[in-house]
Amino acid sequence: MQTNPLPLVLLTHKLPEDWIASLSGKCRLLIGPIDATFLDRHLDAHIDEAIGLFTLLTIPIDTQLLHKAQQLQVISNMAVGVDNIDVSTCTKRKIPVGNTPGVLTEGTADLTMGLLLSVARKLPWAREDAMAGKWKTWSPTGWLGTDLNGATLGIIGFGKIGQAVAQRAQGFGMRVVYTDPNRVSSNSGIHLSLSDLLHQSDFVSLHVPLTKETYHLMDSCKLALMKQGAFLINASRGSVIDTEALFLALVQGTIAGAALDVTDPEPLPQDHPLYKLPNCLILPHIGSATQNTRRKMAELACENLIAGLEGRRLPHCVNPEVYEI
Ligand code: DGY
Repeated sequence: MQTNPLPLVLLTHKLPEDWIASLSGKCRLLIGPIDATFLDRHLDAHIDEAIGLFTLLTIPIDTQLLHKAQQLQVISNMAVGVDNIDVSTCTKRKIPVGNTPGVLTEGTADLTMGLLLSVARKLPWAREDAMAGKWKTWSPTGWLGTDLNGATLGIIGFGKIGQAVAQRAQGFGMRVVYTDPNRVSSNSGIHLSLSDLLHQSDFVSLHVPLTKETYHLMDSCKLALMKQGAFLINASRGSVIDTEALFLALVQGTIAGAALDVTDPEPLPQDHPLYKLPNCLILPHIGSATQNTRRKMAELACENLIAGLEGRRLPHCVNPEVYEI
């Protein structure tokens, strides 16, 4: 008797086997290279047979690719953000799209505080100077930074991650204000309009998803509303900031500094002028990069994928409309 073959799943990047152990026996996997920035040719050759797609935020899942994937029944993104995916086409095609909310909240909030502390207290530059032999004595006027205690932190986007940042910031004695289009009631901050927040904050931290509305949210006009001594922190998506406008604001002293875990484009080319600025810290998108968090993200992405392959509702689905009849 002939048995049905297991459904074909394209896993766009090689991941540690123990992170994806739950997929064993549930599907046939075709796996791309760990550093893929586009769908690997070998995988692309099989996209028309794929039933499932397990992907990372670096791979654009656009209309063209979806057009080739006529058998596709589920997409599982190992990220909370799904801006790499053309979700509206998926919805029209009734393809559920899964993401991984919750598990990276604390890790990303920790990293945000790391960015904030680093830029406020000039940690990367102090380290560089120490290593370069510029540490001659305990210097009363060297590497002077900005206090967190008593400073105002403005959080743009007050979802899970924004709120987790607020709790941490309060522990540092900061006054927290926030803005969010879905007005959230919270004890951990005061709600303000975006322009009031920009006027009042010593640090502005971005925690919005990338959408049409948030693309270039921080443009030259918004940057000009910030205090001259203020710092901009971004651990959301690079193109929430207009990179050119930020570069000018940093060079002209419109704001004091920036700390970016995400950039536009990503990765930021090695010769990009932002790297040369003495008031801009750039990290390679490591907000969720802890052993524990990344494993949980992979496990959750597997749960979504398996549910989709089995025709069940995804535990975390960004387009639940696909289940409406
Ligand atoms: C996400 O999940 O969207 C994060 O950017 C990954 O760190």
